[in-house]
Amino acid sequence: MNRYKEARTSISRDSKTWLITGVAGFIGSNLLEELLKLDQQVVGLDNFSTGYKENLDEVRLSVSDEQWARFSFKVGDIRNLDDCISVCKSVDYVLHQAALGSVPRSISDPILSNNVNIDGFVNMLVAARDAGVKNFVYAASSSTYGDHSGLPKVEGKIGQPLSPYAVTKLVNELYADVFKRAYNFSTSGLRYFNVFGKRQDPNGAYAAVIPKWIAAMIQGEDVFINGDGETSRDFCYIENVIQANILAAVKEGNRAEVFNVAVGERTTLNDLFCIIQESLLDNGVIYERPAVYHDFRAGDVRHSQASIEKAQKILGYQPQYSIGDGLAEVMPWYVESVSR
Ligand SMILES: NC(=O)c1ccc[n+]([C@@H]2O[C@H](COP(=O)([O-])OP(=O)(O)OC[C@H]3O[C@@H](n4cnc5c(N)ncnc54)[C@H](O)[C@@H]3O)[C@@H](O)[C@H]2O)c1
Repeated sequence: MNRYKEARTSISRDSKTWLITGVAGFIGSNLLEELLKLDQQVVGLDNFSTGYKENLDEVRLSVSDEQWARFSFKVGDIRNLDDCISVCKSVDYVLHQAALGSVPRSISDPILSNNVNIDGFVNMLVAARDAGVKNFVYAASSSTYGDHSGLPKVEGKIGQPLSPYAVTKLVNELYADVFKRAYNFSTSGLRYFNVFGKRQDPNGAYAAVIPKWIAAMIQGEDVFINGDGETSRDFCYIENVIQANILAAVKEGNRAEVFNVAVGERTTLNDLFCIIQESLLDNGVIYERPAVYHDFRAGDVRHSQASIEKAQKILGYQPQYSIGDGLAEVMPWYVESVSR
């Protein structure tokens, strides 16, 4: 049996208590849905700064009443230590997702990104350490590779950060490492590479490329590509990310490790444009406009592709969805929700 199957069977048999910060966001709400479906107890924290109550409502509709009753939610802010302390009580595993994402957002407001992503992170580490949680899994980022040009990206080789956001995610890793050395506190940082899936926000200036383009195509609007379109990314479907979180949480042993979470493949923006177009066609949406090219965007890394060897070896991570599989699965959700 593979390790993910084993982990799911084991937590289903012996239910655990999980804290998800950022639970009303894209990744947090998908983690919530999966854990409730596995009959886990879940505590959630969110301040709704970029997350939505509608995401929680959607999860509620996808689980049974009995499963939903195992979820308790607190509106609160990770910048407030008392909020962090109150949600960490009696928790086995923390999945810390709350942060302000987006490179451009951090460039326009570095102080806010710093406050949430660094001060909030240290609050959560302290609260989780003092509550004696077994394992602290946190959302790290591929942006930590910065200007290192080597491909594929391996965990031990990083360059200089290219944005305030990348600095915050690197500092998270440094703190996690120091909490292992100073307090023997166990953490796993998951360096996500361009995650996509249902409930990822297509709106606003800081939307990620996949939901933004899908929404634009469904609404018959122009799609803008920053640069020449040959910029590439290792796009990772949410189901792979859920798998990595569960595997990292249940992995025994004290450590402060970081792991790439991706597929290990590289797709250019020009190719992505065509793949989304085709996937929409399969769902009855015809988009025939050519892409509109803009200037390159400040802070963006040119190419990104992960080596997932470390996560495979240590966690038993085996991504089950390619970019095509993920888009095929999520497209009906976007077609439904954007047309709503
Ligand atoms: N989506 C990606 O491709 C990607 C890639 C790399 C890393 N990450 C990281 O993954 C995590 C989740 O990202 P996401 O895409 O789900 O973003 P998201 O914006 O959908 O979710 C973040 C959630 O955190 C909440 N939050 C923000 N500040 C908070 C605060 N001060 N207190 C409490 N809650 C707060 C927001 O309201 C939101 O619900 C973030 O840490 C992000 O940096 C995401």
